[in-house]
Amino acid sequence: MDKYVIRGGNPLVGTIRVSGAKNSALPCMAAAILTDDEVILESIPQVRDIETEKRLLASMGAEIRLGDTPHTTIISCRTLSDPVAKYEIVKTMRASSLVLGPLVARTGMARVAMPGGCAIGGRPIDLHIKSLEKMGAAITQEHGYLEARVDHLHGAHLVFDKITVTGTEDLLMAAVLADGETLMENCAREPEVTDLASLLTAMGARIEGAGTSTIRVKGVSRLHGARYRINPDRIEAGTFLVAGAITGGDLIVADCKADHLGAVIGKLQETGARVDILGPDTVRVRADRRLRAANISTEEYPGFPTDMQAQYMALATQAEGVSVVKENIFENRFMHVQELVRMGANIKVDGSTATVLGPARLSAAAVMCSDLRASASLVLAALVADGESILDRVYHMDRGYERIEEKLQGVGAQIQRLGNIFTPKSEENVAV
Ligand code: EPZ
Repeated sequence: MDKYVIRGGNPLVGTIRVSGAKNSALPCMAAAILTDDEVILESIPQVRDIETEKRLLASMGAEIRLGDTPHTTIISCRTLSDPVAKYEIVKTMRASSLVLGPLVARTGMARVAMPGGCAIGGRPIDLHIKSLEKMGAAITQEHGYLEARVDHLHGAHLVFDKITVTGTEDLLMAAVLADGETLMENCAREPEVTDLASLLTAMGARIEGAGTSTIRVKGVSRLHGARYRINPDRIEAGTFLVAGAITGGDLIVADCKADHLGAVIGKLQETGARVDILGPDTVRVRADRRLRAANISTEEYPGFPTDMQAQYMALATQAEGVSVVKENIFENRFMHVQELVRMGANIKVDGSTATVLGPARLSAAAVMCSDLRASASLVLAALVADGESILDRVYHMDRGYERIEEKLQGVGAQIQRLGNIFTPKSEENVAV
């Protein structure tokens, strides 16, 4: 089990660069299923979830190879010999359900292991299923798998009961090849949805309204290949902004998209951190004085992102006063709290609300990572704790942060990794 050893106390100073967005890459890679041409994706982050999706696509018969840079991935789904998303892969990444819509749209059938829950919640996909059934798919569930069959999907009027990011993405990919028009309402407005819609449009899809809660799709008979560069990762960028603030540093976050960071930047400024937008892809954060408490309530985009809740809570432990953290999206997304408390934080949880009293002097400790963003929260806390913390099970970090230990070392953090740095398979065709 790889570990991080982090010695707290160093302000982070310098420039840190953001990688491509994992949560854009995952649906965009699944979109390659929709065509028998090659899809070339640029700025793909080298993180574990991407390798999982490569294995998933390869297991179905896709050919995947690296392009002219390690961040360029070329996917060809000319032959989908086995349109099954097997449990041993799906259980490691629930976003595997993103292949459901495109598989049904392209082949008329799909067998996808039910994703099951994860550390942060039940993670159902009932809204994906209901919508595909409205488009004509017959879906059965047995032995832990769902099976969808249809001659050809037809357009429908879909209204999502709840706002779902991958639900919106899954159905968008189903609709682009369906017969007729699909009207989707109560859609997710996340930038990752817009990223996917931009790729699909480049592939020949006819989509209006991506990025708003109402999306109209006119189905086409086929899609062609495309080359597309995905957006920077707004959650990685937000994590780095918090790192600069919590350590009292002077950090420039580069290669990001400032437009996607409005809620996070606004909240950091509310705590008293100085955040300046130096350009469309560059944000500077400084915190040379005590931060003030500020409340957050997680909401769908453009509200404060649930994927930044754990990281913000680490910052709140250092802010003067009481910060109330309300988690509205997932039912169990406070796995980081007990570990932060073990480091000396003063946090009380009551249902979906955590109350943080600061500032609390954090002392280094041996702590356990439990999920991707909770792990990031523990890294941030360790960067300010007195002494040397040991973080176990850092493979959680590898799921969504590319070489974060090297990036943080580059701006002055005392962080070492015990064990092997995560490196994707280098062979040409990803072995299944
Ligand atoms: C996406 O997950 C992200 N993952 C998550 O990021 C992110 O936290 C989440 O959106 C919310 O922004 C990817 O994009 C790969 P949802 P997703 O469907 O799509 C309920 C990370 O850290 N729901 O928007 O799975 C669901 O239980 C990950 O990078 C249903 O009830 O989330 C939740 O309460 C973690 N039925 C709410 O909707 C459904 O069919 C929002 O979930 C689907 C969702």
